[in-house]
Amino acid sequence: MQIIAKIILFLMVIGFSTPVSAVSTQILKLTAKKSTHQFPFFDAQTPVWSYNGSIPGPTIRGQVGQTIEVEFINKLDEPSSIHWHGLIVDNAMDGVPGVTQDPVKAGDRFSYRLKLRDAGTYWYHPHLNGSEQLGRGLKGALIVEPKEKLPWSQDIVWLIDDWLLEKSGDIFPSFNTGRDLMHDGRWGNVVTINGKYKPKVSVTPGERIRIRLINGANARVLMPLFNGIDAHVIAVDGKPVSQIFKYNGFDLAPGNRIDLDIIIPTEAQGHTYVVEDGFTRNKFPLASIEVKKVQPVQTPVFDPTTAEDFLPANVFSKVTPSKTWDLDAIRGGKFGIGWAMNRLLWPDSDTADIPMGQPQKIVFRNNSSRLHPMHIHGTFFRVLERNGKPEAEPFTRDTVLLSARESVVIGLVPTEPGIWMSHCHIQSHAEAGMMTTVNVAPQRSD
Ligand code: C2O
Ligand code: CU
Repeated sequence: MQIIAKIILFLMVIGFSTPVSAVSTQILKLTAKKSTHQFPFFDAQTPVWSYNGSIPGPTIRGQVGQTIEVEFINKLDEPSSIHWHGLIVDNAMDGVPGVTQDPVKAGDRFSYRLKLRDAGTYWYHPHLNGSEQLGRGLKGALIVEPKEKLPWSQDIVWLIDDWLLEKSGDIFPSFNTGRDLMHDGRWGNVVTINGKYKPKVSVTPGERIRIRLINGANARVLMPLFNGIDAHVIAVDGKPVSQIFKYNGFDLAPGNRIDLDIIIPTEAQGHTYVVEDGFTRNKFPLASIEVKKVQPVQTPVFDPTTAEDFLPANVFSKVTPSKTWDLDAIRGGKFGIGWAMNRLLWPDSDTADIPMGQPQKIVFRNNSSRLHPMHIHGTFFRVLERNGKPEAEPFTRDTVLLSARESVVIGLVPTEPGIWMSHCHIQSHAEAGMMTTVNVAPQRSD
């Protein structure tokens, strides 16, 4: 055996997982600070809060197996943290102040160590004073590439955001208003993709592109419509689907991601496709895809990855729910209007205490007429039932939208011990109490 192979083997035997090859650890810095951003409608720059001065924050790209070390530096005037939405990490790295770590105070720093286990589309954002910190711009995309990259012509990330701007160009400075709390949170008046208003994407006929859509909005639910484009869904909330299906719209709630596979037709030279939002009655354009007037390129031929570890529904057929959460508004809490889970407000909440490795069912029951995109950290789940009817989504999620009066039964097999948040991703609702934890007990070894 060659000496280098012996060393590698030795490192593997003693359990060294990191620096076997030089590329396996990436070191990054994210500084939260006040900066400005230029929107096209105003002469003046808009004061924002950003990571590293850019809106959105830098896109972090890593590879499965890699470890990313992020030094978070808080240059805001208030405490913050970074949560890695959808990414399965050690509980201590999950970025939830008061639960998995202390708040990172103004002027302080914290080092996150993220071992990338699953390829997919994720994003990061603060987990404190969310209405304001997300509303002022703190968020970024995190992409985990598989070990072997597929030959996409372009891999495009669309981090969608929604801003509530005043005529002066400033961000509307009241957060968690009575209006936000009584409705579906803070909906803005300017929707951006990667910080740009109605961006244009340029493609070549014949190209095969992957678009990763991330809803990073404070509260707005989206339903992106790819008018005239044949798109296929290859991943939802980061994970590959178990069966690729034609895209016919999707309720992309705050937190959700979908990855689409699109082949630009060879006969589309010179054509412009408009991508619209169709969630509300007032459709509006989000972006356009402009096909160059050039000779088509050869379309790459390959099969996108599908889920290997998809949980069959029958795993859950004999399971009784370990928790039912009733979602409703109550009087009380720090804003006078509380959003409750089982009539309790965070931090005095009703937790789900479940063991690791065993199939679990959880029920969310929306007793209100507002929207609640419910998100659980540290796990993926399947939607098993909606309003009492079986549901057979060919994918797992980490966030599911409950419309007015809807109920949803989800199934999951927890694989990570720890205290994991379960909350509404509408920031005002979460801050008004709609948060609790799923406590996953480590497996006993006897
Ligand atoms: Cu986007 Cu508690 O998370
Ligand atoms: Cu909600």
